Amino acid sequence: DLEGKKLVVTAGPTYEPIDPVRFIGNRSSGKMGFAIANIAAQRGAQVTLITGRVHLPTPKFVKRINVETASEMYRTVMKYQSKANAIIMAAAVADFTPAAVSLTKIKKEAFQEKTLSLTLKRTKDILQEVSFKNKRSVLIGFALETGNAIIHAKKKLKEKGLDVIVLNSALEEGAGFDVDTNIVTIISKNGRIEKLK
Ligand code: CTP
Repeated sequence: DLEGKKLVVTAGPTYEPIDPVRFIGNRSSGKMGFAIANIAAQRGAQVTLITGRVHLPTPKFVKRINVETASEMYRTVMKYQSKANAIIMAAAVADFTPAAVSLTKIKKEAFQEKTLSLTLKRTKDILQEVSFKNKRSVLIGFALETGNAIIHAKKKLKEKGLDVIVLNSALEEGAGFDVDTNIVTIISKNGRIEKLK
């Protein structure tokens, strides 16, 4: 039933380099985005899966593009978004990245104090940027929350100009990062709320 439709799906974490050997990342496994890409391809869609570093095989009939940082993911999504019927952003994109990347390994001897501060700068909100540019594609975002979930998700739906937001809790058992199951609430822009166990 999705034959002839083009989908862009993002998945996984982004890695933001600190120096040549270290990065800031998150616990996203990519499983949710890969599952979405897989089922959409089985239903006949032409799927482009833009993913951060994960340990997952590429689903059959899916075009996979590997990226590492939030800015790489931004550039890649921008390249593919205009032709997509729907864009599904399941990736856990870093909101902040080191303001400067050290070209050499940071040595502990260089710091006298017992603490080390890193200066971070905001990354681009990919969903928001797509939403500004592209009024044609169906735009689906995700919200990972730990409290006041529905309120935060509705705010993201509105502010990011989405058609649908899928809310999942980071704390509920059987949901969140790196598990094989999920428990979600799907909120549509027309106010419809659907809970899936
Ligand atoms: N997202 C994005 N670009 C970012 C950050 C998030 O495209 N720089 C997308 C995610 O892929 C997801 C949605 O925005 O579909 C919401 O992500 P989430 O981390 O829940 O929210 P944030 O907007 O980052 O807000 P906060 O971290 O403050 O909850």
